[in-house]
Amino acid sequence: MADPQLTVMIPAEVIQGRVRELALEVSEQFQGGPITLLGVMTGSLMFLTDFMRALEVPHQVGVIQASSYCGESTTSGKLTVNIDFLPSLTGRNVLLIDDILDTGQTLQRLVEEIETLDPASLNTAVLLWKQCRTTYAVEPNYYGFKIDDHFVVGYGLDYNDDYRHLADICELRLQ
Ligand code: IMP
Ligand code: MG
Repeated sequence: MADPQLTVMIPAEVIQGRVRELALEVSEQFQGGPITLLGVMTGSLMFLTDFMRALEVPHQVGVIQASSYCGESTTSGKLTVNIDFLPSLTGRNVLLIDDILDTGQTLQRLVEEIETLDPASLNTAVLLWKQCRTTYAVEPNYYGFKIDDHFVVGYGLDYNDDYRHLADICELRLQ
């Protein structure tokens, strides 16, 4: 049954097409590879797996976790970074993959953390960019779609850990 709080903002086919385009753009830039994709858990799950299947250069995959304290729907205040599941990044061309760039706090913090591990290069790709809300001095090297200031869920994005499974990206209006 349709959820009255959800409105489709970016349909699945449009997301799929754009993710393929981004993967081809990255494949051209890193001709021959090898690169390491680093997905920010959990929001980048679908973006990461679709992206890697469309990428035409040899690559390794790892994940990193950045979480604000429990129960928060968006980032605010304290951010914890978990690097326990990282492959070795030293001397690798790393592409950090995240679901959404909002204020920029998460991406900036992750970039600082990864730089300490001496990658050969570090680029960033986000599926969505709420540029109107970005206050930190970060810009993604690649982005899928710029969106206005709406709260969105689906295709990995959550509200209190729900809605990640949706194939479309939907605006969530809480009543
Ligand atoms: P930033 O650190 O402010 O850039 O926020 C990035 C994080 O906030 C994302 O990785 C998401 O977890 C969360 N976030 C920001 N906006 C949204 C949204 O519209 N829907 C779901 N999560 C969001
Ligand atoms: Mg996230």
